[in-house]
Amino acid sequence: MYFKNINKTDEIYDKNIALYFEGKIDICEHISEENKLLLKKLIEKENFSGKKEERLEVSFLEEAQLTNMVLIGMGKEESHVKENLRKTIYEVLDGVKGSVLITASNEKLQDPDTIAEVSNYLNYNFNKYKAGKKEKDLKIELLSSREGEPGKEGNILGQSVNITRDLINEPANVIYPETLAIHTIFMGQKYGFEVEVLHENTIESLGMKAYLAVARAAEKKPKFIVMRYKGDPKNPEEIIGLVGKGVTYDTGGLSIKPSDGMASMKSDMGGAAVVIGTMTAVARMKLKKNVVAVIAACENSIGGNAYRPGDIIGSMAGKSIEVVNTDAEGRMTLIDAITYIIRNEKVTEVIDVATLTGGVIIALGHDATGVFTNTDKMYKNLQIASKKWGEEVWRLPLLPQYKELIKSDVADLKNTGGKLASAATAAKFLEEFVENIPWMHLDIAGTSFIFSEKGYSKMGATGETVRTLYSYIKG
Ligand code: BES
Ligand code: MN
Ligand code: ZN
Repeated sequence: MYFKNINKTDEIYDKNIALYFEGKIDICEHISEENKLLLKKLIEKENFSGKKEERLEVSFLEEAQLTNMVLIGMGKEESHVKENLRKTIYEVLDGVKGSVLITASNEKLQDPDTIAEVSNYLNYNFNKYKAGKKEKDLKIELLSSREGEPGKEGNILGQSVNITRDLINEPANVIYPETLAIHTIFMGQKYGFEVEVLHENTIESLGMKAYLAVARAAEKKPKFIVMRYKGDPKNPEEIIGLVGKGVTYDTGGLSIKPSDGMASMKSDMGGAAVVIGTMTAVARMKLKKNVVAVIAACENSIGGNAYRPGDIIGSMAGKSIEVVNTDAEGRMTLIDAITYIIRNEKVTEVIDVATLTGGVIIALGHDATGVFTNTDKMYKNLQIASKKWGEEVWRLPLLPQYKELIKSDVADLKNTGGKLASAATAAKFLEEFVENIPWMHLDIAGTSFIFSEKGYSKMGATGETVRTLYSYIKG
């Protein structure tokens, strides 16, 4: 895929896409006067007025070359949102090959960032392991009068979303803690952030007992990944902390998952992939912010050495945890990562992103990310950030009553609160470790991995929340 914003052109394209707001049809196509006249007649005859979803397709000869043109109705100008443009472009161009020119008579639709971004989602396929796969080449040009580097931010975000999707779509025999760390180091070098990887002995000496309990049955060793981007050296005290759940495979452990539920658990490092994608975008756009991100990467496996239901385990923060269910492993890894990022990286706020519970999928389906926070303002800002991208977030409550459900008879806490409000009791468990600093928890179990096509995402990883987090950080 290739996208370019151009100011003028004299090429002939395989396909022309022309975007119109309702009632604002003035021919903006890049075609001969003769064909313009033809087009005008056709518009009149077919009563094309630019209503939402309205399409008019025509093919004609342009300098003896056959070209196809689609006029697209974008609805009323007043109700225009960028998400609508993303979805429309995806709908018209996904699967298309060759050269495409996009024109629009209205400035708002001559939107290089949005078109550059969605260009990255066209023809996205995770089919590298399939024999006979075909690379579709698509070249998109947008005619607009913008100066500077039009489309740069949109393109970087689209690429970051795809980095996240690829990491999630890769199976667990390819992406495990060590390879995830290697990919992160590579990203850091390529895009400009620092990466440090802590190995088992260091993790042990830091006292991350809860994380290590989850990790210990797996053949693959845990790796604790730290990413640092210091874009605001004048305010070194102010650091946004990101924590991503990085369970590279979740069998459930001894509380083993049924086969059906286990099959997609390569995606249980979705939170980690989101924070990596976000860091690449933040660093490439050189945001003037300090951001530190951490991932307690491990695999929740099964073996003679596995942690057991009934075990009482410590944590970096010093609190003891009764393990009721080894499938509630995400929170065990996250609490040590949260303690580490607060105490050792001195962040001023923490956002954790995790495929944490099946409960959030029951509550919100695949359509919204569940958000829990101890700071109203963080949620407000997240909502504002998410709106720009059409990513849905929805706040859920952290009632004090939920604390009762995770009290243990034998330890400070237990790792599950049972079936009821399971997304909330998981969040409540994390809250016990945030030491009263501003904190927000994003449960992306439903939104990061889907089983049928949604918007401009195919089945599999969506890369959702990368763009929202980027905008949140940008402020
Ligand atoms: N990784 C799962 C949550 C999950 C489920 C993500 C489905 C994506 C799709 C998590 O580790 C888990 O197993 N959670 C359990 C917790 C329960 C044992 C308290 C759940 O939500 O069922
Ligand atoms: Mn689990
Ligand atoms: Zn899990």
